[in-house]
Amino acid sequence: MTQSNNDILIIGAGVAGLYTALKLAPRPVTVVTARPLGKGGATPWAQGGLAAAVGPNDTPNLHFSDTMQAGAGLVDPEAAHLLALGGPAAVEDLLRMGVKFDTDEDGNLKLGREAAHCRDRIVHATGDQAGAAIMKALIDAARRAEHITILERIVVEDLLTDDNGVVSGALVYDVDAGEREAYEFGETVLATGGLGGLYAVTTNPTPAQGHGLAFAARAGAIIRDPEFVQFHPTALNIGADPAPLATEALRGDGARLVNADGTPFMERYHSGGDLAPRDIVARAVETEIKAGRGAFLDAREAIGATFPDAFPTVFAACQSAKIDPRTDLMPVAPAAHYHMGGVETDLDGRANVEGLWAVGEVASTGVHGANRLASNSLLEAIVFGARIADQLRDAEIDAPDGAGAPGDRMELPSKPAPAADMAKLRAAMSEHCALIRNGEGLADLLDIVHEMQESPDLTSGLKSALVTAELIAQGALAREESRGGHFRSDFPETDSEPYHTEIAATHVYDDEEEDS
Ligand code: SIN
Repeated sequence: MTQSNNDILIIGAGVAGLYTALKLAPRPVTVVTARPLGKGGATPWAQGGLAAAVGPNDTPNLHFSDTMQAGAGLVDPEAAHLLALGGPAAVEDLLRMGVKFDTDEDGNLKLGREAAHCRDRIVHATGDQAGAAIMKALIDAARRAEHITILERIVVEDLLTDDNGVVSGALVYDVDAGEREAYEFGETVLATGGLGGLYAVTTNPTPAQGHGLAFAARAGAIIRDPEFVQFHPTALNIGADPAPLATEALRGDGARLVNADGTPFMERYHSGGDLAPRDIVARAVETEIKAGRGAFLDAREAIGATFPDAFPTVFAACQSAKIDPRTDLMPVAPAAHYHMGGVETDLDGRANVEGLWAVGEVASTGVHGANRLASNSLLEAIVFGARIADQLRDAEIDAPDGAGAPGDRMELPSKPAPAADMAKLRAAMSEHCALIRNGEGLADLLDIVHEMQESPDLTSGLKSALVTAELIAQGALAREESRGGHFRSDFPETDSEPYHTEIAATHVYDDEEEDS
């Protein structure tokens, strides 16, 4: 068995990267992160919590059914089974690692309700701070773990591949040394998170620009269903970038979506009312805003005086805009929140390219389909991170052989995307590829992206952001139907046979074409 320090590289240090690294023990693993550990990623911002069938009247089967139902025909049943079955063990493991989930006066876990769950099954920590609590426990454990080497302020610019196309590490920029370097590793795990930062209005940290998808696509990985971007219906519409999230748990606790005059509106759209599937609520909120009636969350009666303790993060965001949710309505709007497509993996997190694995938001394991069930994402990172670790912990890993990065990347400056270019791209994505798309707008978006690819200001960061934007636009153009998070005004119907969009390099095809 090989046990050298350059066996396994994990790119990204959110819940997906750190949990995978911890579960690899005692195998040595190196984790790289572009910013100081715990800063800059999306996990600490997760308000909702973690979905797990741990309630007295709940079962993994019910969680499985809700996950299947939400995904609009595209959830892989095997993946969803693994996810739902893994929920109770994930909660146990996190409790063992010191995460203090909220409990009631009898010491039982307090369970919240979110959209499209048939049971109360979301575990929370300090009200709306589950992500931060989980990250703190994982960071503490990772810093103590002897098998983990953490390298901070290392910006990955691309994957390295050898002459046979095997992924063999990463081309990185060491911010403190001011140098580009090749990190050669036998196996590489992408845990780079999401891409909300490609949109003008997002709940994600703005550096979340989907670079990991671009790296994987350039290395030849199949990108599945990139068009499925989930918009959260209730970001606080207070002009902040990123837009602060007003967690769905508020509606789980009885808050209502209302117009400016206080009239609830969700019953007009869906029998599930305020807790209808997320894509339906998001489009309803957008419709009400566009019709001039306004969209607000009303938590005055349902949550009232308990708001500051129950939802401290949302309360602080409201206060920053001089809104008191105990007495005022909260203005809300949809915002890009989560990417449901990603690097296609098998049930063990393996991509189609040798040497490459993917976990967390950057991966498409099959559990989300066209519409992710709320609070399934932290669970996915944990369940599938553990599965990758099980595959690699005792594996024989060959030393990388002659790794190299494509020359065009070496010519670009090692810099993030210039602010003006990102502003242009984000505006174009929000105009043409957000909640409601059409063929004409998507073609315009692709023109803008192609024109920007010729920009004299092209940097390594801008190049990756543009590749990912192009993948999403290509997927959205190829999917001539409406399903889950993807709504085409020129193809409003849902096809009777669900299918996946798959993009390998620049070729778009679906599995019907593949089969024929
Ligand atoms: C929320 O708290 O509403 C977000 C939870 C999630 O996106 O899973």
